[in-house]
Amino acid sequence: MRAAVLTRPGRFEIEERPIPAPGPGEALVRVARVGICGTDLHIFNGHYAAESLPMVPGHEFTGTITALGPGVAGLEVGRRAVVDMNIGCGRCFWCRRNEILNCPEMRQMGITMDGAFAEYMVVPARLVIPAPDDVPFEVLALTEPLACVVRAARKAQVTFGQSVLVIGAGPVGNLHVQLMRTIGAAPVIVTDLSPERVRMALDCGADVGVTDPGGLRQAVLEATDGRGADVVIESVGNRALYAAALGLMRKGGHLAAFGLTGPEDRLALPILDTILNENSVAGSVAGMGQDMHDALTLLVHGRLTTAPFTRAAFPLDEIQQAFDSINDRPGDLKTQIVLGEEDTR
Ligand SMILES: NC(=O)c1ccc[n+]([C@@H]2O[C@H](COP(=O)([O-])OP(=O)(O)OC[C@H]3O[C@@H](n4cnc5c(N)ncnc54)[C@H](O)[C@@H]3O)[C@@H](O)[C@H]2O)c1
Ligand SMILES: [Zn+2]
Ligand SMILES: [Zn+2]
Repeated sequence: MRAAVLTRPGRFEIEERPIPAPGPGEALVRVARVGICGTDLHIFNGHYAAESLPMVPGHEFTGTITALGPGVAGLEVGRRAVVDMNIGCGRCFWCRRNEILNCPEMRQMGITMDGAFAEYMVVPARLVIPAPDDVPFEVLALTEPLACVVRAARKAQVTFGQSVLVIGAGPVGNLHVQLMRTIGAAPVIVTDLSPERVRMALDCGADVGVTDPGGLRQAVLEATDGRGADVVIESVGNRALYAAALGLMRKGGHLAAFGLTGPEDRLALPILDTILNENSVAGSVAGMGQDMHDALTLLVHGRLTTAPFTRAAFPLDEIQQAFDSINDRPGDLKTQIVLGEEDTR
């Protein structure tokens, strides 16, 4: 099989490797589509998981179950599936609570170990989630990024009728907007410095779009009867925007801490206001377990506009070009790598 190995920052090499065999409790997946996400770009640029190189990245993937190792029940060879990239021990306090990133044995496919930019992958069978055969692979490959957004909505306890401000209309911000719309949040306000991205978010269901940072506060107050948003989701990863977010939510509102900042960045929380107004900050990281199942359900039932995420597709042999050109294609919210099993639908 072919595998795209990131041999050093900025450099992929296509290698021939033997197709791995699934051991006890494992499944062999023939990879069909893999999305490239911001984390992959950080790995590519040498800013994240550099100690894992050389490595095959790729964690937003879908494919077909091709073989099952000894003792695997409940999965069927030939079925489409998505895979939860987060591997916990499955037994500890954190795993039981679906807070797998805190598991002392946590590993992540495509980050701490080889991932999906390869024609085949062996994965723990318990992390394989079967998917309907009539949903295109290009849509199924969005399950993992959507699962991150589902988890954030859960942690911030968003429900119908709530006003939501999404800061940042990048690939993930756009998914936040769409999930909020699907949940029944109203109004959904979005802000980004890029008019094109705000336009795309409006096309995907946002009610109010703001491109001018100086006009954001006014726009939020106008859209929320002067109160501020019930929920503010920071989906940029900018310390100053986190600070601004505190002033954009209503008394009793939630700040969904989602965009990744530097490790040293601090947010000065006014303690007394937090108590008296009953505000909260809800962090969330990745999407796992039930988040993956819920994201898949939403995609299977066509709840999201997926076209802006699926139109940029490169074959595995052109993965280098796919990564090198990503910043020149801001209109492609996602770039996907197409492998062995070309999508025919
Ligand atoms: N917590 C999690 O589980 C999780 C999962 C996935 C991604 N993330 C993080 O979420 C964030 C968003 O992901 P993405 O892939 O969409 O990122 P991205 O960098 O592609 O997009 C960020 C967007 O923010 C906009 N932006 C930049 N500065 C801005 C400003 N001052 N005001 C308004 N908009 C501004 C940019 O124009 C861009 O459209 C990143 O920080 C990413 O690391 C977190
Ligand atoms: Zn990702
Ligand atoms: Zn565990």
